[in-house]
Amino acid sequence: MVQASAPGKCILFGEHAVVYGQPAVAVAIDQRMTVSLEISDVWRIDGMRFSPERHPHVESLKQRLWANGPSLSIKVNGDIPPASGLGSSAALSVAASAALRCARGRQIKDDDWGEGWTAARPNAVYTGPWDVEQGDSVQTGKDSVDVDECAILSHAVEASAQGGRASPLDSSTCSHGGCIVLSDKVESDLNWIYSRTLNDVSWEVHAVDLPKEIEDVWLVIGNTGIHAPTSEQVAKVARLLENEPGRMREIETIGIIARRGIAALKEGNMEGVGRAMRENHLLLRSIGVSCSELESLISAAAPSSLGVKLTGAGGGGCMIALTRNPKETSEAIELAGGRTLISKIAAHGLIVESDDNSPLWNPFE
Ligand code: MEV
Repeated sequence: MVQASAPGKCILFGEHAVVYGQPAVAVAIDQRMTVSLEISDVWRIDGMRFSPERHPHVESLKQRLWANGPSLSIKVNGDIPPASGLGSSAALSVAASAALRCARGRQIKDDDWGEGWTAARPNAVYTGPWDVEQGDSVQTGKDSVDVDECAILSHAVEASAQGGRASPLDSSTCSHGGCIVLSDKVESDLNWIYSRTLNDVSWEVHAVDLPKEIEDVWLVIGNTGIHAPTSEQVAKVARLLENEPGRMREIETIGIIARRGIAALKEGNMEGVGRAMRENHLLLRSIGVSCSELESLISAAAPSSLGVKLTGAGGGGCMIALTRNPKETSEAIELAGGRTLISKIAAHGLIVESDDNSPLWNPFE
């Protein structure tokens, strides 16, 4: 059996504005999605017949990585609530890309990739597969998995599910883990990973080394239980900006606040991080992506927190509180009717948990 897992994510700063190229920050959380694959007589997912309509992300990855491959039984487990702004679909896509890659291996040519998706080329295009020649080999198991490739594939799949508008924030955070910053330019004081371009918007993706002060704070995530598809919220903001182009100023202000938040985060100034989160929330509310249920959870968490805001697309889904008192904050949110999860900041990214019997299929034979 081949198995891979990827973390969910929380956006600390910059959701929605990032779709328009503004900087944004996300961290991987402790909650994860795990995908396991085994060869099967028919396509199944969690014991049921696989339906491409019900699982568009998996279908899209299947077409890219497993075209003409044998039927698989796919199992998906995890503790990331779906459609709640915590990156469940990106985590699923990252884990599924890794599992599929591990299960098929990778063609190697002249000691380099013979096929795959790479950020080293403009727009992260697919290279190969090249004709197999003598001397070529297939890299198998964990070694065949590449974290950037999984991020790229997950972004492509997210973008098609969101009508072409998706930043690579969720996909890169769920792949790389830790703390990820997207910006419209390469930030010299951060660790640049790669560039991504989609529909004329470009993002530079960076990792951030977090200071030790991060160890004294927690994220308490409060879930309203309201499912709000990201695509609808992203479309709502697009309509607002189309009808009232002057509102782009709010999007730009979110970018300024995100920069302030990044600086505070790097300095270990957690009070400053909390302040920037509160300011960011006011702007998200003003562009219309909050709702009364999110506002109640945010008000309940505020007295015991350094900063509170909605996280992800909004319209329902989750809020986050940065706090030194996770128990007190979590109780306050639950009393206000939310379900809570507690996470440390910046969990581990993609992990290939098992590559037993891989490759399950050799497409190059
Ligand atoms: C969703 O988690 C974050 C949004 O900014 C959309 C995106 O970045 O693609 C709302």
